[in-house]
Amino acid sequence: MLENRKAATLKQLPAPPVNGDMLCDYDSLSRDAGLLRLEWPVPSSHQRPGRSPGQSPGKSSRGDMERMFLIRWGDEVSAYYNICPHTLVPLDGAPYQLLSADREELQCAFHGARFRFRDGRCVAGPVRGKCLRPYPIRIVDGAILAVPAAG
Ligand code: FES
Repeated sequence: MLENRKAATLKQLPAPPVNGDMLCDYDSLSRDAGLLRLEWPVPSSHQRPGRSPGQSPGKSSRGDMERMFLIRWGDEVSAYYNICPHTLVPLDGAPYQLLSADREELQCAFHGARFRFRDGRCVAGPVRGKCLRPYPIRIVDGAILAVPAAG
C-alpha cells in the first residue's frame, strides 16, 4: 500500500511566514493531489497561555518546528497545519506521506484517519467529524501567499 505513495516535497523556512510571504508558485503544485510541506522553527514568543510548554498551533512532537502543507487538486488549493487532531502529531510520520493510497484524501500515517482536501474534515478513522486546522493563504498572480493569523 505505501509503495504507491510518494513523499511530499519539503520546504524549510528560516522563520515563520509573515503576511504576504510567498509559500510557492501555484503552478508548481500538481493538479493531481500536489503537495508541498513547509516547516520553520517555532519562535520562543509563540507560546500562549493555556498551551502546554512547547505546544503551538502547528507544532508537533517531531522537534521544535511548526509544520503546514499545501494540497492542490484540480484548480483548488487548501493549506493546513500538519498536525493530526487525534494525538497532535504530524500526519505524515516518518515516511512523510500525507495521502491515502488512492490519492483521494489526506491520511494520517499513525491510525489512518482520512481527511477531505477541501475542508480538512475527517471522514474516517478515530477523529471522524473533526477537522484539520486550516492555515490561511491567498493566491495572487499565481503565487500562494501566507496570511498567518496575528500572534
Ligand atoms: S494520530 Fe492521526 S489518526 Fe491517530
